[in-house]
Amino acid sequence: MKKLVILLIFLFISPNIYAYQIPEKGVIYQVMVDRFYDGNKSNNQPFYDPVHKNYRLYWGGDLQGIIENLDYIQSLEVSMIWLSPINDNINRMASGSAPYHGYWTRDYKKIEEHFGDWKIFKTLVKEAEKRGICIIVDYVPNHSNPATDGEFGSLYDNGTLVTNYYYDSKNATLNPYTGSLEDIYHHNGNIKVWEGFELKYGNLFGLADFNQLNPWVDEYLRDGASLFVQSGVCGFRIDAVKHMDLGWLTQFYAHLYMQEPLFIFGEYYKLNFEKDDDMFYFYQYSNVSSQLSIPIRNDIVRTFAFGGSLKTLARELEEYYSHFVYPNKAVNFLDNHDLPRYLSESKNLDRYHMALSLVMTLPGIPVIYYGDESYLVSKEGKGDPYNRPMMEFNNQTEAARIIRTLAELRKENNALAYGDFETIYADYNTWVFERKFGSEKVLVVVNKVDSKNLTLSLNWSDGIYRDVLYGVKMQVKDGKAEISAPKNKVLVFSYEGEQEKPLIGSITPYIAQPGQKLILGGAGFGKSGKVFIEGVRAEVLEWSGEMIVFRMPKLDTQKAWVDVYVETNGKRSNSVKLRYLSGNQKAFLLVLNASNLTGQIWIKGNISELAEPIPLMRSKTDYYFQVVSLPVNTSFSVDLYSGLPWEKLEPLNVTLYGKSINKMIILMKTKPTPKYTQTITRSTVQSSSTSICGTGLILILSLIVLFKKR
Ligand code: NOJ
Ligand code: CA
Repeated sequence: MKKLVILLIFLFISPNIYAYQIPEKGVIYQVMVDRFYDGNKSNNQPFYDPVHKNYRLYWGGDLQGIIENLDYIQSLEVSMIWLSPINDNINRMASGSAPYHGYWTRDYKKIEEHFGDWKIFKTLVKEAEKRGICIIVDYVPNHSNPATDGEFGSLYDNGTLVTNYYYDSKNATLNPYTGSLEDIYHHNGNIKVWEGFELKYGNLFGLADFNQLNPWVDEYLRDGASLFVQSGVCGFRIDAVKHMDLGWLTQFYAHLYMQEPLFIFGEYYKLNFEKDDDMFYFYQYSNVSSQLSIPIRNDIVRTFAFGGSLKTLARELEEYYSHFVYPNKAVNFLDNHDLPRYLSESKNLDRYHMALSLVMTLPGIPVIYYGDESYLVSKEGKGDPYNRPMMEFNNQTEAARIIRTLAELRKENNALAYGDFETIYADYNTWVFERKFGSEKVLVVVNKVDSKNLTLSLNWSDGIYRDVLYGVKMQVKDGKAEISAPKNKVLVFSYEGEQEKPLIGSITPYIAQPGQKLILGGAGFGKSGKVFIEGVRAEVLEWSGEMIVFRMPKLDTQKAWVDVYVETNGKRSNSVKLRYLSGNQKAFLLVLNASNLTGQIWIKGNISELAEPIPLMRSKTDYYFQVVSLPVNTSFSVDLYSGLPWEKLEPLNVTLYGKSINKMIILMKTKPTPKYTQTITRSTVQSSSTSICGTGLILILSLIVLFKKR
């Protein structure tokens, strides 16, 4: 009885915002678990260095250590903690390193014993939640662990050995359509050519690369991630998305999203955003998940640490954000565990504070890498592994004050979370931009080198405004703002007017299938109302002035993007876009004979999942193929296009048909009949190639479409 009373009190006082997080309203604190705090001395061995000299050994940090420092993390006003991977890693050294970083998994259903267990993880989730913080875990579905060292790609299913890379190679067969040798893993050598086939089906730095289309692997990786969802995480950072099929990832995310409205962001490693690989169309057409803003990070650091034009930076950032449907869901950072820490590059603290302030005010969700607030910098070297020194706790610094102040502002003023991004003024050393969400506004003044008197056209109410960081004054009169901008400072002015009508700023996730729970963030929602998607009314699960939770209805549409709006007190909100998935998703291998085709080929089809152009890859076995996420048992047609992703695609005037029954779909010239089952003897892509080479292949060849080159 006493327990029940306590539970009821807890439920009563625990605000809903803790149960569902709107990612844009928050700040992420990134922790490398081993390097944060040793809360349990009994789990440090083996491969432990108690004096923290060898950066390639375990240093003792664990989940208990994070629990013990939650008050410290909370003092920075952050609302999400991103943990480095905590799944069970190999129990041996590889390439002279222990897997202290967590990226060499051997069991996706267990927690690494150096870090804790499921019980302690769940305690962490609950303790964090009490402080308004939710947990995001780093998950690594591209590869397990080194194929030729350590435990040789050994893989366990909750403690039971399944395979290793050597054993798996004996069972591997050639997929005739993709040209990949595969079973549980791919066996196509290491990535040497950083594009196309190798990028996805080769081993990344010698790490055993999963064949995610193998049904066992698919289910195993999904089940492993689901264990985290069941333990209460609010999202995932997905490692190495560049090296996996987007179609597989789409349905993997879709399955997770069906469980909770999670925030998932991917790591697509690319240090610039030049149009030289498929990142461009990954951004532009897929929008399957948020991305870490890796391509703009170096530009930001260079401009503050070394020099360079703020006007150029402004242009680059605007160009970068223009590729997203939801720029406010980009995940921005200054430091992380793969790049030299900013303060290893340059010691000028004023400039560091400026860069930090910028990351906190740009469109997107800011990440604070552990120790950014305490000026943590390795004494031994710059990049990996030296960017992972032991945490030094100090939340009384100027950096901590900036983080705290701007994290608080993000919670109060929706313009930082949901606002537009517009440059008001830019030259070499000065940049002023505005973030605007309805009547809420933030003005950011970035000024390097010399102090400067600015007179700007600004559509704010007359009055005197004080910047939230240093108290610098801005006077606005008749649409003109006067500011004396000090040297080497970022000023942040805030204006919080009442929203007159409902305004949606965020939708999480922004890809959904019928039955899925979704969260709308915004302002002016009032006490109750209705949600519509493409005019269809949705079931509302929760409603408050700034947040709505609803359930996705089934739609009758072939569109990729559908419109969402709300109505409250007779007022209608703006419409926001949602990527629609029409039904239960599965990954399918779509195949097309390549003998009469050349160049970059795309498909675009008549169901929502295929309504944005999808690029095909060409195999060395002369097929075009792509893994796509489709609703099961659905007939569809696709039109073919050619061209480069950043150019207008040219139609080839060829229509082909398919039906999502088998794991693999060969596109055909004729429509499938209602009773259609594709005449392929191969039920899964990982089954033996010998069946394909016999009668199966003859049947397939007779079905393959030979169409004219345009
Ligand atoms: C990217 C991670 O951030 C990096 O630290 C890791 O080594 C590789 N992916 C491989 O998992
Ligand atoms: Ca891969």
